[in-house]
Amino acid sequence: KKIAIIMGGYSSEYKISLTSGNVVYQNLDKTKFKGYRIHIFKEKWVYVDDNDAEFPIDKNDFSVTVNNEKITFDCVFNAIHGTPGEDGLMQAYFELLGIPQNSCDYYQAALTFNKRDLLSVLKPYGIKSATSYYLNLGDEIKQDEILEKVGLPCFVKPNKSGSSFGISKVKTKDELLPAIANAYKEDNEIIIESFLDGTEVSVGVINYKGETVVLPITEIVSENDFFDYEAKYLGKSQEITPARISEDIAEKIRAVAKKAYTILKMSGFSRSEFIIVNGEPFMLEMNTIPGLTTESLIPQQARAAGISLEDLFTNSIELALQ
Ligand code: DAL
Ligand code: MG
Repeated sequence: KKIAIIMGGYSSEYKISLTSGNVVYQNLDKTKFKGYRIHIFKEKWVYVDDNDAEFPIDKNDFSVTVNNEKITFDCVFNAIHGTPGEDGLMQAYFELLGIPQNSCDYYQAALTFNKRDLLSVLKPYGIKSATSYYLNLGDEIKQDEILEKVGLPCFVKPNKSGSSFGISKVKTKDELLPAIANAYKEDNEIIIESFLDGTEVSVGVINYKGETVVLPITEIVSENDFFDYEAKYLGKSQEITPARISEDIAEKIRAVAKKAYTILKMSGFSRSEFIIVNGEPFMLEMNTIPGLTTESLIPQQARAAGISLEDLFTNSIELALQ
């Protein structure tokens, strides 16, 4: 089967996506699949061969012509973090073309990529999250009203983004406006959340051989103020799998993560983040195209569960092809 591994994307996360995509390419089961690295950038959509030669993708049918031979794909493996890979755009495009893909559907992708909408959909089901305040580009910024609602310290985040780009922890009132300006660089919507003082954990939920499987929980101990870009990718954190939490709390986290996956009718990969405060999990977000670099959390959790990367990717593609 011919597998198009799409990577890159239009957001600040493109470099991480290229790393994730290359990990997928290198760990495909070569006896079953032939992988094609497809770079999706605003300027160009191209197939990149092993000599780094580029061949343009025909967007009418997502095919590529190499040496007069037209190649079409049996399945798409989506490794694009951020737009247009994680927010439903690519999912909708492949659905229209009728090409199987390994990620969740466009609606689930769009919903989960929007932190405010995800958390408000889950709230009536008892899934807790931080108190938050939402801003749209152009809205009047009422600093006192914001701080009265969320308190200090608080987190200012782009509402639709990833890898901590544009996120700041605000400790004093005079840091608020610069933090908002910084978040608007990534998105035209902002979510400002109260600080949850507790233990951060991350947990993958995947469809594995037809079952919803919760992977081992990872505890995140950041050396920085929070799990920012440097902590995530430049070694400034400890990621401990399984998390050093009681079995009671672990069971609670697993149950909430699985419940969210089920309520949303998710498929494919998901990785949810929580802060545990006094034994209660508060959800921060859910990622549907989680990082797949060798340092990333889903590969770590899969390893801890005895699932190799090759197995993880084969499973994902086989489910998409069913
Ligand atoms: N957004 C990054 C890639 C992650 O969730 O792992
Ligand atoms: Mg994220």
